[in-house]
This record gives sequence, structure tokens and C-alpha cells, in this order.
Amino acid sequence: MTEMISIEQLELKISDIKSQLEKEEGLSKADLQIKYLGKKGLFNELAKIIAKVNYQDKKSAGQMLNELKNFLNETIEKMELQKTKVKWIDLTQPGIKPKVGHMHPVSQAMEEITRIFERIGFTRARYQEIDWDWYVFESLNMPKSHPARDEWETFFIDAPTDKKLGKIVLTTHTSNGQVREMERLNSKAPIRMINIGRCYRRQQDTTHTQMFHQFEGLVIDKGINIQHLKGTLDYFAQEFYGPGTKSRIRPFHFQFTEPSLEVDFSCHICNGTGFLDNEVKKSQDQRNKCKFCKSGWHEVGGAGMVHPNVLKAGGFNPEVYTGFAFGWGVERTYTLKEGLNIDDIRLLYSGDLKFLEQF
Ligand code: PHE
Repeated sequence: MTEMISIEQLELKISDIKSQLEKEEGLSKADLQIKYLGKKGLFNELAKIIAKVNYQDKKSAGQMLNELKNFLNETIEKMELQKTKVKWIDLTQPGIKPKVGHMHPVSQAMEEITRIFERIGFTRARYQEIDWDWYVFESLNMPKSHPARDEWETFFIDAPTDKKLGKIVLTTHTSNGQVREMERLNSKAPIRMINIGRCYRRQQDTTHTQMFHQFEGLVIDKGINIQHLKGTLDYFAQEFYGPGTKSRIRPFHFQFTEPSLEVDFSCHICNGTGFLDNEVKKSQDQRNKCKFCKSGWHEVGGAGMVHPNVLKAGGFNPEVYTGFAFGWGVERTYTLKEGLNIDDIRLLYSGDLKFLEQF
């Protein structure tokens, strides 16, 4: 007796063939037709089975086979259609934009600062980030063991010391460029330097990174006075933060300047008023305070007239020449401009594209 086949077994075989077709890749339409519907194709092989189906099931088996044939025909057509869809190109469609990066925001700020000072005759300089104690401290009127040095939390390099120049340190400020620039120009005036570089201090928290950037201005010539300094600060404030921004100077102390000053810029969000409304008659408590500055001003850095001892260290006669200097952090200057209250300044150096792509 020939082996009989149940309807369930037939169903299984049919669904095997269907899923096999659905998984096909790479065969052309013609090949698929031969493989599934050809004379010796899978359909015809299966159709022979009908002989083994019980008499009473033959009708439904026939219907199932018919249905399978339709499925194979339709699916092969559909697959072909999909292939041609992918190949079809709309030449009028705009292309896919390649990802374009941009300069790091701190680099952008350094470029802008450089351009602003170049316009008034400053020359961009960049001095070493690893320098002798002499340039970082001693020539700046800070003799060894002077307490003023404590302010700069210094990294010292474990290396032999030089008799005159002392230890090697990671530069704590860009002021090391002052005497270096005087030496580069063989102590000849005029000097108009803008030195931008990396600095290092032993401090790290949400408002400080161990590595940061400063820019340092130095001007030396005959007859330079504090008005030139103030004019330069005002010029920078307007160019960098926009028209109407003012600078303010307050007395301070640095060993390498005399007199020494701290520099503030008026807040460009509230126009230096400290308030976001114009209701001057109201009491201060009732007014809408500027949360960005709280006072109308932002403290940015230090400045002053170059100390005679520094001029001497650079080979200038302080009886004949005077100068001014200023210096402060690029990161802070930049975040103020953008109106950014960055909770954690370390984000700037995290390499996190989600953050950096915003600028
Ligand atoms: N070097 C000082 C600092 O790092 C800033 C400064 C520069 C002050 C030039 C006066 C003149 O704080």
C-alpha cells in the first residue's frame, strides 16, 4: 500500500515552500520562476503528492495547491517590483549632505580674539607651555619663595634645575610670554603682543580645568599710559561682546604690574543694568534681576601697567619706556559671550559631540 499523506502534512510542506521563497535573495525573476514554477520546480514536485491524499481530502488539497500557485506567482512579481524600486533614482532629489565638522568653540574664540587684536596692530605670539620658573615667576617680580606665587597652583616638572632660570614648570599663566617677547625683539620698542596659549594649574572642579587657555596682551613703548590700556579694553569689549559693552577697572594687586587692576565687562544681556526690565522706579526687590550677571558686570581678569622690574628683566629702561599688560581666560571670556551658564566647565573638554555640535 502506498503511504498516505494527511492534509496537515500537506499544509506543512506548503508553508515550507512559501517561507523558502520569502527568504530568497539574489535570484532573478526568471530563475525564481524556474525554481518554483518550472516543469521540475518545487510546485510541480509537490503537486504529485495529490495522488497520495485520501479521496475525501482531494478537493481541499487541490484548492490548497491552487492557492500556493497563486501565492508563488504574486510573490515573485512583488519581489521583482521591489528590486526595481530600489534601483530607481530621482536625479532631482537633493543629495545626502556629508557631515561637516567645525572648530572647537575654544579654538573659534581664540581665532576671533586674534583677529580683533590684529586689527589694532597686535602680533599674535605663542610661547612655550613648559617653561623655566624665571619666565613664569622670577622675571615677573616674584622672587623665589615669594608668597604671591601661591596664587598659581603650579605643576613642577621633575627635571634638573638651571642656576639662573630655576625649575621647569607647566606655565600657570601666559604672562611668561612678556619677558620672552621683550627678548625676541631684542628689547626694542614698540611691542604689541597678543599671546594665546595653554595654561595649567593644580585645580579641577566644575569651574576649573587643570588645562585651560589664556590670552595676554603686552604693549611697550615711550609714553604708554593707563588710558591706552582702558581704551584697548573698551575696544575689545565692543568688538567681542558687541556695541555698547563697556569695561570697568578696579584696583587689585599683581607683583608684575603697578598699578594693578581687575577688569570687568558690562553684561551684554541686561546692558550692564543688572535688570531685565526698565522699571527703574520700582524697588530693586520687585524688579526682574538678570540671572546671568546678578550685578550688571562680569569679572574677567587682570591687567595693569608693567612693573619697572619686569621692564628691566626684559632689557628695557623703565625711565624711558612704559607699558601695559592684561591677561585672562579664553574659556570664561567665551562662555560669557554666548550667555552660557555652563554648570560644569569640564564639558568643554569632554569631547562630547552632542554638546560641541551646538556651537
Ligand atoms: N597673569 C595674571 C593671571 O593669570 C593676569 C595678568 C596678566 C595680570 C597681565 C596683569 C597683567 O591671573
